[in-house]
Amino acid sequence: MKIYKMKDYEQMSRKAAGIILAQVISRPDSVLGLATGSTPIGLYDQLVKWYESGDLDFKEVKTVNLDEYRGLTRENDQSYYYFMHQHLFHRVNICPENVHLPDGMAEDGEAECRRYEALIDSLGGADLQLLGIGHNGHIGFNEPDRYFAKETHCVKLQESTIEANKRFFASAEEVPRYAYTMGIGTIMKARKILIVANGAGKAEIVKKAFFGPVTPEVPASILQMHPDVTLVGDEEALALI
Ligand code: PGA
Repeated sequence: MKIYKMKDYEQMSRKAAGIILAQVISRPDSVLGLATGSTPIGLYDQLVKWYESGDLDFKEVKTVNLDEYRGLTRENDQSYYYFMHQHLFHRVNICPENVHLPDGMAEDGEAECRRYEALIDSLGGADLQLLGIGHNGHIGFNEPDRYFAKETHCVKLQESTIEANKRFFASAEEVPRYAYTMGIGTIMKARKILIVANGAGKAEIVKKAFFGPVTPEVPASILQMHPDVTLVGDEEALALI
């Protein structure tokens, strides 16, 4: 595992974006696994800057996102579809047919999970999967549990996640209770993993996930078993390691 401890959020974003830039330069038709949340916003801004300066071309890039709320339409400004278009897709030359997220409005949830997993397989899996980490160690919406869920599935969100995400909604009641997420197995199939973390609030969980026991109680701890993981964090998030 490679660890980059960067001075601050800006440096963290730049370093992580540089790893994605290198991936796309070495393979212009890369399949990028992408993530939402507050952590990757600076990284997406940096990718847009490199696109605007002509250093990065998304023409052949394909993307698969980690997760999506169940029950939110694409137009809902809290859907991850909306987030990805707002922060990245609308700002670069990516082809609309090459971006993929679970469909939050699918009627048959189980069929949607199967469709999404098969779609990722049909693209050959992610070349690079970007991840954030939740305060409880979740990756995607894989919450602490007694086992590692393998494939794309629909999860009931934990109270701690609803609490953490309510800042984006008018109230906690409006946070959807269910979400689709790639499984731990889906994430582990990515050829490279890039995980980003910033802020003192993530310090404890970063230490637990990467230097504690591998357990489904801390879903991100499974990444210790992946052969190609890069953690990029700011000094605060990496203060305990
Ligand atoms: P955050 O979320 O980037 O908003 O901290 C990370 C996550 O929950 O995966």
